[in-house]
Amino acid sequence: MVVAAGSGSRLGAGLPKAFVPLAGVPLLGHALREVLSCAAVAQVVLVVPDTHRAQAEELTDGVCRELGSGATVTVVPGGAERGDSVAAGLRVLGDDIDIVLVHDAARCLTPVEVFDRVVDAVTAGAVAVVPGTAVVDTIKQVDGEGYVVGTPARSGLRAVQTPQGFRRDVLERAHAVSSDATDDAGLVERLGERVLVVEGDPRALKVTTRSDLETATRLLTETP
Ligand code: C5P
Repeated sequence: MVVAAGSGSRLGAGLPKAFVPLAGVPLLGHALREVLSCAAVAQVVLVVPDTHRAQAEELTDGVCRELGSGATVTVVPGGAERGDSVAAGLRVLGDDIDIVLVHDAARCLTPVEVFDRVVDAVTAGAVAVVPGTAVVDTIKQVDGEGYVVGTPARSGLRAVQTPQGFRRDVLERAHAVSSDATDDAGLVERLGERVLVVEGDPRALKVTTRSDLETATRLLTETP
């Protein structure tokens, strides 16, 4: 599932972030290329703003033709918050789907190797898997007034990315309880289930600001 229903207000491009062009192709188009290159993907659920369903379908047709992909693609409108959009996507999953990957369209350059790594770890028995990278900054926890209340050991911290992979029943159970976390693994953690971190990739950066868009453009031109 690719969640692409955010407004992208922080990017300030005047259109939903997933439809902002990066080297002439909408972020969603780049994301779809990687998703559809993953051999394990049988169905792609695209969650987009209601206003952009036709555009998403057109974009998808183009990428499928380009890659010769026969995957089933389902386009649905998203909700007010990211969690609502994931829940909308879950409602249209085919009966035969046992493993669900949730991917942010904003992480449009995440290479297919990361998808494969996540799928492999769920297939091998983990109920929830997230890609993550070591943290280079020292992270402080602060209170409401900005005073530091703690410094977690950096060696034990990971910056997590998407796609996040789950056994379908576990993700559905997590969303039935709550959907108000900044990632899906956070909801699964609340169930008391164990979440495994596998190696992420710097190219999986989340495009949020203009400067991220510039970084992504640079990464795209550097990638062979
Ligand atoms: O806003 P943020 O960058 O955290 O969004 C992460 C991902 O979730 C983006 O790909 C965005 O399109 C998606 N999203 C969504 N529905 C929302 C809000 C965000 O699908 N209501």
